Amino acid sequence: MTDLVRQHLIDPEICIRCNTCEETCPIDAITHDGRNYVVKFEVCNWCNDCIGPCPTGAIDNYRNVSATQSYSLEEQYTWDVLPAPVDAQAGESEMPEEVARITEIAQAGQGGPASPPWSAAHPYVNLFSPQKPTLATVSGNHRITAMDATADIRHLVLDFASVAFPVLEGQSIGIIPPGCDEQGRPHTMRLYSVASPRNGERPGYNNLSLTVKRVTEDHQGVPTRGLCSNYLCDLQKGAKVQVCGPYGTTFLMPNHPGASLLMICTGTGSAPMRAMTERRRRRLPLNEGGELMLFFGARSAAELPYFGPLSKLPKQLIDINFAFSRVPTQPKQYVQDKIRERHQDVVRLLKDDNCYIYICGLKGMERGVDEAFRDICRMAGEDWDALLPQLKAASRYHVETY
Ligand code: A2P
Repeated sequence: MTDLVRQHLIDPEICIRCNTCEETCPIDAITHDGRNYVVKFEVCNWCNDCIGPCPTGAIDNYRNVSATQSYSLEEQYTWDVLPAPVDAQAGESEMPEEVARITEIAQAGQGGPASPPWSAAHPYVNLFSPQKPTLATVSGNHRITAMDATADIRHLVLDFASVAFPVLEGQSIGIIPPGCDEQGRPHTMRLYSVASPRNGERPGYNNLSLTVKRVTEDHQGVPTRGLCSNYLCDLQKGAKVQVCGPYGTTFLMPNHPGASLLMICTGTGSAPMRAMTERRRRRLPLNEGGELMLFFGARSAAELPYFGPLSKLPKQLIDINFAFSRVPTQPKQYVQDKIRERHQDVVRLLKDDNCYIYICGLKGMERGVDEAFRDICRMAGEDWDALLPQLKAASRYHVETY
């Protein structure tokens, strides 16, 4: 038993290939091929940065192996399931002393893994795996960008009939497009944020909605056809869809009365914001207090999903700030410009212990928003670099970008 070491592995059965772990790892110990995400045994230093952000928990797997016979990357790439523990008696849950010590130090240094707001409801995850998905029926598919807009963004409603599929605002689900890849393997699932509140797209119905953009070009503008997004956007009412999940344990809204939300999004990053806003709209009669402030970036009003419904929301519910980047008669504006314009209210919310911050959408926005927060904090005599770790430690700062 003394020459056994613990090897960090990713469970291919529940991994949803969202790339979060690879992006999070500060020392590039995680990599992937077309099939699996894997951990480099020689590189992983057990900093545990990847554990909290993983939406499924696939990252949180280990096997005790002989120090000279760890599972190679080539082996890991071929797995459909994790290998059975070699020596169950060695105790899979028993961490070698050295590893346990490193883990403890790493977590102490970072205030522990990411966590949801203290008052968030308990999320269900992994009820349906990619190997055993459930079937949902399309009960609606509506275009929510103007007919002459370049972006075709759809509001898709999925009905689960009598299958229990509980979701919270901020969670995601997996969709498995039909068919196989060039190697003849079934397509892997794609992840979509839920756009409806926990009690259904229609209250009391066992359904949920997604915000899906038809992908016709990649981030560099090169024409490409998004396999799953085109499949979803073309679905007719009554079609059956393979669904897995739900996923996500941290990008969740607070439940306590008086909690405020500061939401910043672009494009389809609006899905979780719609879910949270609609949850609060339905509870308006309860007078629970708390503010909602939204910054939403799009090329123009015509390209902004849910522009019509958002514009009709009562002013006492939500303070909406649109930023349009491609309106010929106006200067280009990004969400970070609007945040600067509204600096007094934003700083007040950043400093409010009862305010939770959510950022979702284009990756590039993350940096711009961070710089805007730094600037407006400086103007108010605050130090953003000191405030940010406090927000994270208090589970008040949540980012999902792609
Ligand atoms: P842009 O006109 O420069 O592309 P998209 O329509 O591609 O989903 O983008 C949604 C909005 O996000 C657009 O207004 C887009 O502006 C804007 N955007 C692009 N890059 C950034 C960034 N780095 N920070 C903030 N917003 C951005």
